[in-house]
Amino acid sequence: MGLKPLIVAMTARLHGNKEPSGLFIFAVNVPKFTNKGGAPTSSFDDTQPMLAATITEEPLHVRMALEIIKAYDEALFRHSVRVAYYTCRILEATGAAPEQIRVAQISSLLHDLGKITVPRGVLHKPAALSEHEFTYIKLHPVTGARILQKLEGFAEIWPYVKHHHERWDGKGYPAGLAGENIPFVARVICIADAFEAMTAGRPYKKSMTPAQALDELTANAGSQFDPDLVRVFLHAVSTQLD
Ligand SMILES: [Fe+2]
Repeated sequence: MGLKPLIVAMTARLHGNKEPSGLFIFAVNVPKFTNKGGAPTSSFDDTQPMLAATITEEPLHVRMALEIIKAYDEALFRHSVRVAYYTCRILEATGAAPEQIRVAQISSLLHDLGKITVPRGVLHKPAALSEHEFTYIKLHPVTGARILQKLEGFAEIWPYVKHHHERWDGKGYPAGLAGENIPFVARVICIADAFEAMTAGRPYKKSMTPAQALDELTANAGSQFDPDLVRVFLHAVSTQLD
């Protein structure tokens, strides 16, 4: 209930009916939102397995990074795909250029690459993390960025990976950047990431409905999240899906 499998060809929409070139096409379950009353009301039933996530046409270095994430942890990969989906929807709604959306898509797919250095027992711990474990987790944006910095082809990507846990009020990590000093795409990924985490739930936390998650985003707009981008996301999800 509340879910429908979609074949998401993100850029087909951006380019009219033209074939998307060099971009991902993936099949993914996303929540079916109903617009009656404004807010989405359906729940994100994560018990439905994602149909598939096939990555095509991307350069080898991008595919390799994704395959490493997938091989390390299937759930992390699914999270990354959903975060990419929401990231691109926000970017679309801002009227971003296709090339910027393409960069954002790759950045969001790889945003948690650094978690491949976090033990899976910590990633999936069915309880709140200890302070020590959380310190470990907090290294992942820098770790991911360092991996990508050493490889060719990710010069535009790694800053977004590095800063996706910054907060609008400057209380995030790793750099404590605030407001518009946080790279734009990193601010978008931060919102998409939070929405996905809330709606998909965690081992120790029940998932929220999309409506509850949107309320949470709204409550934290201007402190954790870029308030303008939260508004864009609210609008984008309340007018989806086809
Ligand atoms: Fe992250």
